[in-house]
Amino acid sequence: IKKIGVMTSGGDSPGMNAAIRSVVRTCAYHKIECVGIYRGFEGMIEGDFKSMDARSVKDIINKGGTVLKSARSQEFRTVEGRKTAHDKLIEANVDALVIIGGDGSFTGALIFNNEFDFPVMGIPGTIDNDIFGTTHTLGYDTALNTVVEVIDKIRDTASSHNRLFFVEVMGRDAGHIALNVGVGAGAEEILIPEEDLGLDRLLESLRRSKQSGKSSSIVVVAEGDKIGKSVFELKDYVEANMTEYEVRVSVLGHMQRGGPPSCFDRVLASRMGVKAVESLLDGQTNYMVGLLNDVMALTPLDHAVKGKTKINLELLRVSEIMST
Ligand code: F6P
Repeated sequence: IKKIGVMTSGGDSPGMNAAIRSVVRTCAYHKIECVGIYRGFEGMIEGDFKSMDARSVKDIINKGGTVLKSARSQEFRTVEGRKTAHDKLIEANVDALVIIGGDGSFTGALIFNNEFDFPVMGIPGTIDNDIFGTTHTLGYDTALNTVVEVIDKIRDTASSHNRLFFVEVMGRDAGHIALNVGVGAGAEEILIPEEDLGLDRLLESLRRSKQSGKSSSIVVVAEGDKIGKSVFELKDYVEANMTEYEVRVSVLGHMQRGGPPSCFDRVLASRMGVKAVESLLDGQTNYMVGLLNDVMALTPLDHAVKGKTKINLELLRVSEIMST
C-alpha cells in the first residue's frame, strides 16, 4: 500500500477531524501518501480528492465537524456510481480507504469491497454510539458532555418556575445518549427505545415525585423512544392527566453534534487513526477499529454493522434509585 484515501461519511461528529489528522500523520510517519476525499462517497464519485501531508492537518484536533465535509450519497447506492468511484480511486493511485462514519457508511464500504476487492478500514464516528465492536464511537463522549451541560441550564429554569421539562435528545434508534445523560444530569425519568416503560408508569412516577416534595422535574426522552408519543404529545398527555405540573418541551437537535471534541474523543480519534492505517499496512481489510477493554481492537465490518450494541440497563435502575 502506497497511498491511502481518508474520508468522512454520514452524520458528522466531534472527533472526526482529530481522526483525519491521525490518519494523515500516521501515513506521513510511515512515509506513504494520503489523500483526503471530500463529501464522503459523493466526492469519491466526483474525484474530489486533495493530497494531504502532516502540515495540512494542523489546528484541527480541536475542531468539531469535519474539514473533509460529509454527505449521504444516493448515487453510491447504484452499481454505476460505485464503478465511477472505483475508477476515480484507481486514476488517483489510491490503494486503500479509511472511512470514518457510521453503519450506513460501513455498509457502503462493504459492498464496495465485495465488488472491487478494495481494501477498506472503518473508524466509528457517530454521536449515537450504536456501533458494535467498540464501547465508544467518536463524538459520543462529547455529545454526552454537551447535553449534560444544556440540561443543567434547563434545570435552572425548571426549578425557578416549578416546571416539568421533557428534553428530547438524539441517538436515532439507540438510547445510549438518553440513558447516560439522564443519569448524569439527574433526570426524573429516562425514556429509551430499548425499554418501553409505558405511560402509566411515567404518570405514576411523576406523581410520586411531586408527592415526595419535588417541585420540578426533567424527563429525558430518546428521539427513538418506543412509548409511541412525541415529546409534544407527551406534554399534552401529562397535562391532561395531571394538573400538578406546568410542562415544557425542549428538543435539543443538531447542537448535540457540534462543538470542540472532548479530550476523550481526541485521544480516541488519535488512537483509532493510528490503528486503522497500521492495520491496512499489515494487510488487514474489511475491519473496523474500536475500543474494547481500553485496547484498540479490530471487528469485522459486517459484524460492526449487524451486531447490536448492548444498552447498559443497570443505569435505568441507578436512575430509578437516584430519583427517590
Ligand atoms: O446519526 C447521528 C444523528 O445525529 C442521529 O442522532 C439523528 O437521528 C440523525 O443523525 C439526524 O440526521 P440528519 O442530520 O440527517 O438530520
